[in-house]
Amino acid sequence: MKPFNKVEFSFPSNSVNEGFARAAVSAFLSQLDPTVADLTDLKTAVSEAVTNAIVHGYRDKIGFVYISVKLFENGKAVVRVRDKGCGIPNIEEAMEPLFTTGGEERAGLGFAVMQSFCDCVRVTSAVGRGTAVTLTKYFEARE
Ligand SMILES: Nc1ncnc2c1ncn2[C@@H]1O[C@H](COP(=O)(O)OP(=O)(O)O)[C@@H](O)[C@H]1O
Ligand SMILES: [Mg+2]
Repeated sequence: MKPFNKVEFSFPSNSVNEGFARAAVSAFLSQLDPTVADLTDLKTAVSEAVTNAIVHGYRDKIGFVYISVKLFENGKAVVRVRDKGCGIPNIEEAMEPLFTTGGEERAGLGFAVMQSFCDCVRVTSAVGRGTAVTLTKYFEARE
């Protein structure tokens, strides 16, 4: 199925841009006339993925974060958050609740949050090349 609408944008991994990314995705999704709950869920998941790209992907440097949002006729929204940072050596381990390489400041729950708020979370990564997180959510049809 082809998306009926899509948007792509990128920004440097300054932490101030996390709020922009979340708001931009949210503004684009509003054309699906989402419930507040559904919209909040996906915004929260996007926020976690973007924060990971900024904090972990580009640990002590600045690089670009790439976002695409695709909307489908059946109410499906697919958000892809990609970085060209350090990559994840073991994706399965990284996605386990409470696993973190971020030390005391991080709870290790970002992927768990993404999974609980989305219908599907897919992660691909290559060490030294970067990471892509694809978040899929089906929005309730509204009359
Ligand atoms: N974009 C990324 N690039 C590199 N490593 C990542 C990325 N996203 C997640 N990770 C790794 O996965 C771990 C778990 O992520 P997460 O569940 O969000 O917990 P937290 O961010 O609190 O550490 C991170 O600590 C990090 O090691
Ligand atoms: Mg995180």
